[in-house]
Amino acid sequence: TSPFAPRHLLSIADLTPTEFATLVRNAASHKRAIKSGAIPESLLGSLSGKTVAMMFNKRSTRTRVSTEAAAVQMGGHPMFLGKDDIQLGVNESLYDTSVVISSMVSCIFARVAKHEDVAGLAQHSTVPVINALCDSFHPLQIIADFLTIYESFPVQAHKLSSLGLEGLKIAWIGDANNVLFDLAIGATKMGVDVAVATPKGYEIPAHMIEIIQRAGEGLAKAGKLTQTNVPEEAVKNADILVTDTWVSMGQEEESKKRMKAFEGFQITADLAKRGGAKEGWKFMHCLPRHPEEVDDEVFYSPRSLVFPEAENRLWAAISALEGFVVNKGKIVE
Ligand code: CP
Ligand code: NVA
Repeated sequence: TSPFAPRHLLSIADLTPTEFATLVRNAASHKRAIKSGAIPESLLGSLSGKTVAMMFNKRSTRTRVSTEAAAVQMGGHPMFLGKDDIQLGVNESLYDTSVVISSMVSCIFARVAKHEDVAGLAQHSTVPVINALCDSFHPLQIIADFLTIYESFPVQAHKLSSLGLEGLKIAWIGDANNVLFDLAIGATKMGVDVAVATPKGYEIPAHMIEIIQRAGEGLAKAGKLTQTNVPEEAVKNADILVTDTWVSMGQEEESKKRMKAFEGFQITADLAKRGGAKEGWKFMHCLPRHPEEVDDEVFYSPRSLVFPEAENRLWAAISALEGFVVNKGKIVE
């Protein structure tokens, strides 16, 4: 890569613990400032005259709205390019599309099916590419999720390289998917343990376990990852119960098979009790949600952080645009 190659955000694995923690803290402080009516000087008009392209090959509510709104708040112009709007995939290759779009804009948010597609786009783009979800990762979601945890749990004294959340335990009950992979990478870096319960045959693939473990190499306090096929086991002593859809976008044909395989994995107050979750346990979900993975009682309860978590996507997008576009990949307070 040339010294002028832009820096991309494809996964939380691309960030050092300090950079990840800094993106979360910056999101928190921008949120506080903007909500009290004071847009920080450093953000005001920071994308003025700049276009932010959003190439979305899949549906989106939160990612689309948060990235468009973030670009506008920073004075930029978001340009939404849905799969039926551009030539990509029908008349034009990913390579040609990346070269052409990146020659005219300042940043590309990309939501694609395969990780190789967003990685290929980044490889040929002359501007930062930010992954807006692929089959392996969802970094903007995980910045928002850690912002939510940071705001909802007591924070211990800590260094720049962490958020002071060490020792918390997340129980992920359901499918091992893109959101879990980046969540586990972020948690490993922040010293937060993750216990995963999936049905047999739906565990985290071996290559992904390696990526998650690599995230903790050399750290004084890396979070631990464990896996089981018994939801109650994962829930034991958990501070946060998390899940996501059992059928991710692109897996619709497997829907029937998955519904059957995931029977018994619904998050309920009874599961939390049976498994022995911590008394003050909270619930998180990246949304969109279906009732099979979590019942209404938990989803709409005071334990549920899902709506602040969704709002935090906006502050995560602002923080990522600041770090990767305004500051050209230098992630600083
Ligand atoms: N959580 C999330 O990425 O939602 P959308 O698919 O609606 O963007
Ligand atoms: N795992 C889900 C997340 C949606 C935000 C999917 O990929 O469809």
